[in-house]
Order: sequence, then structure tokens, then C-alpha cells
Amino acid sequence: MNTDCKISRRDALKRMGAALISGAVASSGLLSLTSCEVRKNKRIIFYFTGTGNSLYIARQLAGANAELLSIPQMVKQGRYDFEADEIGIVYPIYGHMPPYMVRRFIQQAKLKAGYKFAVLTYGARKCDAVEIWDDISRKAGNAFDYIGTIVMVDNWLPNFDMNEQIKMDKHIPENLQRITGDIDERRHWHEPVTEEERQMHREFMRWTKLDPEVGFLLKSEKCFTVTDVCIGCGICTNVCPRGNYELNARGVGISGDCEFCFACIQNCPQRAIRFRKSEDGSFPNGTEVNPDARYRNEHVSLMDIKRANNQKS
Ligand SMILES: Cc1cc2nc3c(=O)[nH]c(=O)nc-3n(C[C@H](O)[C@H](O)[C@H](O)COP(=O)(O)O)c2cc1C
Ligand code: SF4
Ligand code: SF4
Repeated sequence: MNTDCKISRRDALKRMGAALISGAVASSGLLSLTSCEVRKNKRIIFYFTGTGNSLYIARQLAGANAELLSIPQMVKQGRYDFEADEIGIVYPIYGHMPPYMVRRFIQQAKLKAGYKFAVLTYGARKCDAVEIWDDISRKAGNAFDYIGTIVMVDNWLPNFDMNEQIKMDKHIPENLQRITGDIDERRHWHEPVTEEERQMHREFMRWTKLDPEVGFLLKSEKCFTVTDVCIGCGICTNVCPRGNYELNARGVGISGDCEFCFACIQNCPQRAIRFRKSEDGSFPNGTEVNPDARYRNEHVSLMDIKRANNQKS
């Protein structure tokens, strides 16, 4: 390899060709880093996912060089101390709040990094999710320099038909390119929140009666039921980040604290998992828009979700 500053005419022509190609690639939006700017910093990205949106975004932000770590696996292994040049986190908002496991993780973690960024995925209404994360992470001693959101397919089955959601253009590539650029430049920025968005979140909390210090943490046996179209494939036992499902002599057993991430109901190949109706009609009351439509991000495989969430082995 040529390491000194003098280059031959042939090398110079080769480099000009490479520069032209990389310029074309960058302007086409395919890559945010050209070959001349390969990232040397150590970057770690944590993620939590039920249906793959957040894993997809985490992967895109990671590129070839970052370490991608699943929060359910870190919790399972009891790993909370991390050091890198840049540390990121990607998670889905649930009622504008982080999943309970993500909240607990950031409260316990010791993250040492020169730059910290968070990207929150959502489907329709983010409200003050950015401020909620800023508050939780700051109180935990893990303040983030950059907090942004990206709109994706909304996997909230009670209100949305997955078949309709996947048809909607949510401008994901353009938004991803903007966020990638921000993060690569180490931009210090929190996405602005309006007073109207704060008010909408307050109304949501009043209606759902969720505890703001917890968010969604339900009981899986009260939320889900398995119908007799179940074929005992065991997928639900591997995709649950809480390990709430087990195959037993009577079929499938469900119990335990539930993140309400929908990894189980969305990934069951038989659509055998259904929402259970609550006895008093309280939220969430088991209804869904289209029980025949299920969703997993098109760039993420079932194996990816199992690897991210499996608690069984
Ligand atoms: C329990 C739950 C609550 C949700 N709450 C919101 C919400 O308040 N606002 C919103 O826009 N999307 C909401 N969503 C949609 C997800 O945030 C969105 O689809 C996300 O990208 C899913 O990420 P994942 O595929 O990584 O699990 C909710 C989804 C679930 C399962
Ligand atoms: S994923 Fe569905 S079909 Fe497979 S064991 Fe679980 S409930 Fe049954
Ligand atoms: S039971 Fe289903 S919704 Fe609850 S944590 Fe497990 S996979 Fe997620």
C-alpha cells in the first residue's frame, strides 16, 4: 500500500475516478460517508424492537462499522457499562414514552461517550416523546446530545390496518438520510415540541390512566389469548423480549409482565394470537382494526427478531 504523499499519475487518475463515483453515490443519497471519510470512531447503537422498524433504523445508522446491541440481550446478560466515542439508541415510542425495558436500561446504564444520540421511531403521533426521553435519560445521568424522531409503519393494531399502513409513503429514506447526516456531523439538537403536542400527551395519559413513571407495562395473560389455529411452531416463545410464552402439554402458555411490543401477535404465522377482551371494558380492550393483517418491517427477518429478543437460551 502506498503510504507517502507522492502519488503516480496512474494513482491520481484512479483516485479521481473513485472520487467521481463516490460523489455520485453520495449525491444519490445511497451513502452518507464516502470512502475518503470512513468513520474511525467507535460507535455503539442499542435498540429495542417488536416488529423490526427500530432494528432497521439502528442498522442504517450503524453502517458497516458500529456495534449493534439489542437491549433485551444486554438486560439478559446484565451488561450496563459501555464506553465508545459515540453511543446511540433506537426505540419505538409507546404512548409517546419509551418501552419499559428501555427506560429501565437507561436508568441502570453507565454510558461513557463523547456524543450520545437517540432516534425514536413512531407511526402517527409523536407528541412530546423527545422531551420525555430527555427527562428520563437526563435524570439517569445519561443526557443525550441529539434526540430526533422518524415516522414509520404504525404497528398499533387496535387502531391501524397493517395492510393500509404498508401502502403509505412516510418518506423514510429522505428522513433517514437527514438524520444520518446530523449524527455523522455530531449535531447537538433536540427536535422541537409544541405546546399542543404536550397537551395531547397529557390527555392521552388521562384517558389511558397509564403511570407516567412506567408507561406500558401490562400483564401478558390479560392482553393475549391463543386460538386453536395454533400449530405449536414455538415462534412466540422466541420473539418475546420478556420470555412470556412457553409450549406445554396443553398448548401455549402465556404469563408475565408485558412490554406490549406486539412481537408475539405480529409475528405469529397462524395469526393465532389475539387480543383478549378486558372484563370491565378498560383499556386496552382487545379490539383491532384488521385481525387478518400482520406486520414485520420488510428489511428485517423473523430470525433477526428472534436474535434480538429471545430470552430462552
Ligand atoms: C404499545 C404501542 C404503543 C404505541 N404508541 C404509539 C404512539 O403513541 N404514537 C405513535 O405514533 N406510534 C405508536 N406506536 C407505533 C410504534 O411506535 C411504531 O410502529 C414503531 O416504529 C414500531 O417499532 P418496532 O417495529 O421497532 O417495534 C405504538 C406501538 C405500540 C406497540
Ligand atoms: S407463534 Fe402462533 S402458531 Fe406458533 S406456537 Fe405461538 S401461537 Fe402457536
Ligand atoms: S407478550 Fe407479546 S407483547 Fe408482551 S412483551 Fe412478549 S412479545 Fe411483547
